[in-house]
Amino acid sequence: MNVILLGPPGAGKGTQAKRLEEKYGLTQLSTGDMLRAERKSGSELGRKVQAIMDAGKLVSDDLIIELIARRIDQLKGGKGFILDGFPRTVPQAEALDRMLAEKGLRLDAVIEMTVDEAALIDRIAGRFTCAKCGASYHDRFNRPKAEGVCDACGSREFVRRADDRPEAVKTRLEAYRRQTAPILPYYRGKGVLRTVDGMAEIDEVGRQIETILGDPI
Ligand code: AP5
Repeated sequence: MNVILLGPPGAGKGTQAKRLEEKYGLTQLSTGDMLRAERKSGSELGRKVQAIMDAGKLVSDDLIIELIARRIDQLKGGKGFILDGFPRTVPQAEALDRMLAEKGLRLDAVIEMTVDEAALIDRIAGRFTCAKCGASYHDRFNRPKAEGVCDACGSREFVRRADDRPEAVKTRLEAYRRQTAPILPYYRGKGVLRTVDGMAEIDEVGRQIETILGDPI
């Protein structure tokens, strides 16, 4: 099963992708996480994208398409993938179609998560992630079960993102409206677009997505 989670910054794509990995055995492919890993490793690509990401702007289509194509190539067998943060522009969506066609793969669902802008800002402002495994938490909505300890891997180290500063968040929301929202009609036209209420609580959003995807195979 191959799924796209689509939504503005802070909509909960990463949070739900992790749940789908567990429940359906799918592989999360997050272009944001891939780029942050490149930055951490000090690679040339990482250095190239640092300032763009911290400002909240989109990295160029060419770089992103190359990055994701390599990762899809590395997936051998498996139950499928969840794309989180890709595609984000119409050229990226078209490139994905070509990649999938070449590999004889298809998209089973494109799930749009809708959330009010005020709630997005609130969610991003309170977000922190595990420095070791990347699990995402929130100061108020999603705290680790044991204070200061990651539920997923037991690490005690957490980080906050540089692009979660208010100025960068404004730019990210604007990029979503201008560059990413136009891919919604693209997928609606293909008959694969489904929408969930991303304003609901985390478990409820998860249930809505599972209703769309059906039982794990
Ligand atoms: P990326 O890492 O993809 O960031 P994003 O799309 O802005 O999304 P976020 O990770 O901020 O939010 P999310 O929807 O995953 O929410 P989360 O689950 O964490 O991209 C970062 C940058 O990389 C981009 O700006 C760009 O520069 C570059 N980039 C990446 N992909 C690119 C591409 N394809 N093309 C070009 N450039 C690209 O949840 C947020 C918070 O809310 C958490 O604290 C969580 O605990 C909480 N929460 C989640 N769900 C709920 C809920 N239902 N109720 C209450 N709280 C909730």
